[in-house]
Amino acid sequence: MNQLSSSPINSLKGIINIPGDKSISHRSLILGALSIGVTKIDGLVFSEDTLNLINVLKTMGVKIIKKGKKIIIYGVGIGGLKKPNKTLFMGNSGTATRLMIGVLSNQEFKVNISGDKSLSKRPMSRIIEPLTEMGAEIKSKDGKLPITIKGVNETLPINYNLTIPSAQVKSSILLASLGTPGLTTVIENEITRNHTEILLKLFGANIKIKRKKNKNLISLRGQQELIAKNVKISGDPSSALIVGASALITPNSEIKIKNVNVNKTRFTFFNVLKKMNANIHISKKKYISNEETADITFKSSKLKGIHIGKKTVTGMIDEMPIFSIIASFASTNSSFSGGEELKYKESNRIDTIYNGLLKCKVKVKKKLNGLIIIGNKNKPYGGSTIQSNFDHRIAMSFLVMGTASKKRIKINESNCIKTSFPNFTTLMNNLGAKIS
Ligand code: S3P
Repeated sequence: MNQLSSSPINSLKGIINIPGDKSISHRSLILGALSIGVTKIDGLVFSEDTLNLINVLKTMGVKIIKKGKKIIIYGVGIGGLKKPNKTLFMGNSGTATRLMIGVLSNQEFKVNISGDKSLSKRPMSRIIEPLTEMGAEIKSKDGKLPITIKGVNETLPINYNLTIPSAQVKSSILLASLGTPGLTTVIENEITRNHTEILLKLFGANIKIKRKKNKNLISLRGQQELIAKNVKISGDPSSALIVGASALITPNSEIKIKNVNVNKTRFTFFNVLKKMNANIHISKKKYISNEETADITFKSSKLKGIHIGKKTVTGMIDEMPIFSIIASFASTNSSFSGGEELKYKESNRIDTIYNGLLKCKVKVKKKLNGLIIIGNKNKPYGGSTIQSNFDHRIAMSFLVMGTASKKRIKINESNCIKTSFPNFTTLMNNLGAKIS
């Protein structure tokens, strides 16, 4: 059951670093493996998700070694992976799975892919459709894992209009297009995280991005080798907000998190929190491996509610669990809508947030693809045991709630935290939390 319990505390203080960004970690491992030469990665998050991806790449003949805190990858070139002699196990990671299926569309062998209980429930048809159009043969049951894929030497160029705002789908197509003798274009109607584009550019891919009438046209000309690069990865903004939120809702608190990724496509939450009257500011902006990075300081705040719509929700899709916790400490009502995609994450996040908040005696109502969270001048009661449903962000968000609610909060199935943030409990306790 691996239960964790978080008890209310009076203050949280400290200056910390947090693990590297998970999205950039996955992409650096993949591009390092597909390039020519030796890539060194500094700041990779060593979580269950990235360790599974490292194993998957090793199974296909990529030499990867750990030297101190760095990872060294000996690239094999864009079509150079070897047929594995076993099923590729992707664990809990939707990102690694969808990106790797893109890569495998362009490798000329047949391979089986599986995942854990949570991943096996998540939709894969969103990538199966475009990748099939590009020539891959993909077999699945109901568009979910397990999947068998047989890739082709030369993927076909396509023009793809992204109907779901998904960086994973966009990235999967772009990675498949590395083997295309021509130009593949992905049309993005709503902006999603752009780490794949930034990193592909860094590795020398022939990629161009045009902005046209609120859309992004991302074009990649394939069949050009990638050149190995050294990559430095800054802290994960989604993890940073989870830790920082504990300072916003706990009295007498101040937490500074150094070197966090503040790429605009990941930082929508900053403006939302500002509008909620959050005491949050950034300093020391700089670029690391073409990604914008800064220190973020979070202090105790007198929060007010906010109403956010689809575009904003898309911009902070991974922050919605912790946003909902923060909103339950606001004095006035909050709501969000347009969160359909939240249903397809590590758990159905609309349901898991709703059930968790109700159990903690927060007044909350469901609406179409969203929630209404009733504000209160008093802090939430807490005092309950929450099911994480194997969702790391749900587990961490409710543990953070426990630091500032009236009574302690317990989380069942908390082991999932190690998929993204293995040292979360230690780090929180060093700041003054009581999580055990
Ligand atoms: C991710 C994209 C998002 C996000 C996930 C990581 C990525 O998923 O929720 O945690 O690294 O590309 P979608 O593309 O499904 O929205």
